[in-house]
Amino acid sequence: TSLDPSHPLSAGLTADSRLVRSYHGERQEVVPVWFMRQAGRSLPEYRELRVGTRMLDACLEPAMASEITLQPVRRHGVDAGIFFSDIVVPLKLAGVAVEIQPGRGPVFEQPVRTAADVARLEEVDPASLDAATFAPIAEAVRLTTAELGSTPLIGFAGAPFTLAAYLVEGGPSKDHIRARTMMHADPQTWSRLMAWSADVTGAFLRAQLLAGASAAQLFDSWAGSLSLRDYVEHVAPASARALSHVRDLTYEVAQPEAAEAPDTTEAGATPATDEPLVRNVPIVHFGVGTGELLKAMHDVGADTVGVDYRTPLDEAARRLGHVVPVQGNVDPAMLDAPWEVLSAHVVDVLTRGREAPAHVLNLGHGVPPETDPTVLTRVVELVHGWRP
Ligand code: CP3
Repeated sequence: TSLDPSHPLSAGLTADSRLVRSYHGERQEVVPVWFMRQAGRSLPEYRELRVGTRMLDACLEPAMASEITLQPVRRHGVDAGIFFSDIVVPLKLAGVAVEIQPGRGPVFEQPVRTAADVARLEEVDPASLDAATFAPIAEAVRLTTAELGSTPLIGFAGAPFTLAAYLVEGGPSKDHIRARTMMHADPQTWSRLMAWSADVTGAFLRAQLLAGASAAQLFDSWAGSLSLRDYVEHVAPASARALSHVRDLTYEVAQPEAAEAPDTTEAGATPATDEPLVRNVPIVHFGVGTGELLKAMHDVGADTVGVDYRTPLDEAARRLGHVVPVQGNVDPAMLDAPWEVLSAHVVDVLTRGREAPAHVLNLGHGVPPETDPTVLTRVVELVHGWRP
């Protein structure tokens, strides 16, 4: 499915950006950089704007969600905005009773633990979640991309396993033990829960991309609690199903210009063609503690793989056969270390990232709320000024 001609990718606004080109595996002279959780409590302007508004209400208030998305782009000069929302927003829009407790995370009124609980979820057919359901999301994306111009917006969604980990537990948990038990104790109920979650989260992601986001990131934050075998057997099919909701979205770019005018008299020279290249909207797949799963996470239909801080990027690139772009992986704990220590670490990450075809610098997980935001701005300047 071709994106609308007015979409920032089709209109040529963001297709040539460092971020989008890197996600397609084309190494850029300057390494692009953005930060997971760049919008949020590390910014005083965010804390001020959020006073008196609950997290999920803020997500469904288009002007506020858009403003919060733009704050870190203005302040840090990062190469992308990440849409301000939450992985549980599509569940709320599907009618699931959920709130986000400050300092804790998503909490559900009724945990989903039995076949009957899953049947209750299935009363909402994911196919019924239409443009009207996602209207506040699409509106926030449109307001945001109108301001961002040539800076791409990244849309995101939670992967089915990470959503199921919250749904089954009823809230945050350490080892997601109830969810992992369900996958073995009642694999049929588990796969129905995963399929439902995949379609709901996939619809949320598709709404963001159709409305103007130029890339997608699927967060499987808690997949690191799984063995490779369980991931491949009980989780990967649902993640692939979630991504199938956006894999078909394409845009056209002009053929890159040849460095020299083609010598058409030379034997065997192919005549230049004006045929445009058709590309898919690039997809990033990220998890925490997923060093053993990188290859499997690529295989579900990602273009770029996000790496947490535990696996050095040269090792991650090796595990991905040196053919997959990587994103990461500055240790968030380093942000509060002396600048000499942090800057040496960032340069080490940049250097190791050269083992992959392309690299987008990010953290290995989200910005901690206590982070001094001036440090993040300084990291962006370092990355943009760095040359190997
Ligand atoms: O800047 C960005 O990265 C974009 C916004 C974003 C949020 N949540 C906003 C948010 C994104 C991409 C997410 C995804 C998300 N939400 C994930 C996957 C990413 C990850 O961190 O692994 C997960 C697991 C969640 C669930 C969730 N929502 C948690 C664990 C929390 C934190 C609870 C807390 O208070 O520490 C939330 C709430 C949340 N989502 C906040 C923000 C800015 C904090 C809300 C606040 O300001 O009080």
